[in-house]
Amino acid sequence: MIKPEKLELRLRLRRNRKAEWTRRLVREHELSTADLIWPIFLIEGTGRQPIDSMPGVERLSIDAAAHAASEAAELGIPAIALFPYTDPSLRDAEASEALNEANLVCRATRAIKRAVPQVGIITDVALDPYTSHGHDGLLEGEEIVNDPTVSVLVGQALNQARAGADIIAPSDMMDGRVGAIRAALDAEGFEHVSIMSYAAKYASAFYGPFRDAIGTKATLVGDKRTYQMDPANGEEALREVAADLEEGADMLIVKPGLPYLDVLFRVKETFGVPTFAYQVSGEYAMIMAAVNAGWLDADRTILESLMAFKRAGANGVLTYFAPRAAKALRLG
Ligand code: PBG
Repeated sequence: MIKPEKLELRLRLRRNRKAEWTRRLVREHELSTADLIWPIFLIEGTGRQPIDSMPGVERLSIDAAAHAASEAAELGIPAIALFPYTDPSLRDAEASEALNEANLVCRATRAIKRAVPQVGIITDVALDPYTSHGHDGLLEGEEIVNDPTVSVLVGQALNQARAGADIIAPSDMMDGRVGAIRAALDAEGFEHVSIMSYAAKYASAFYGPFRDAIGTKATLVGDKRTYQMDPANGEEALREVAADLEEGADMLIVKPGLPYLDVLFRVKETFGVPTFAYQVSGEYAMIMAAVNAGWLDADRTILESLMAFKRAGANGVLTYFAPRAAKALRLG
């Protein structure tokens, strides 16, 4: 055997990694249950319904969603985000169900607030669960028309605020919607209702399973590239964020998550405001597919992916893994 010569090294970075206690001592970022936002799919009726492309995630009836909210409270998850599966018979070209004060999201919001008032409720502003064509805006001919869509989004946001939503989260990517929603909320006395804007949201293939979950996969006509961002653009994300902050956004979302960590990092570095990552349905599906094939360790992969968001600057993460991650964190 060759006896290696001892290196004359003064700097040995491995010294800080030599034991769990030193690793803990020098650790730069911490992941806690306070970082988690749990997106929940809603359905009419009772019970739960599996979603094929998102193993382990189910559409929940209002009762089951209230139960999930109390689970969130127990696990220390601060907030949930609601997404409805709208009965196809209620979808139309004008997205009129978005304005119905008794729609699924509004009834769920009221019920969950009553049952678990300490958990924050985030509601999604965009028309896709309600349009017959599956777009986030109104379609005139081949065009998603910006300004008429914003009027409906304002009505949708007010409808959700009246039902008791704590945070309004516009995910539609129309221009000027944050300012219009802020003005309308303030005019109705909802100054305390926050806006978490999907400021940099990309036209991504990773939303596939979500569209399955809310039932727009089959109906979506064309794609969303005239309003969601081009995955090739980074600078433009900073302009989107600047605009939304100017219009009154309190918090921001960058979406998707892991493939867009550079965007998250730049946004946080540039603006230093509360910024969240959305680990989207396709990211969830990829990890779960590998886990279910026995190729990845679930908890370690999940926690590592969430830590990556923290390292890149996120204040928190919207993730379908929220309850599982919270349990894994509890176990340490
Ligand atoms: C639509 C919306 C989408 C998601 C959240 N809100 C999909 C889309 O833009 O088509 C995706 C979330 C996910 O994939 O987990 N307003």
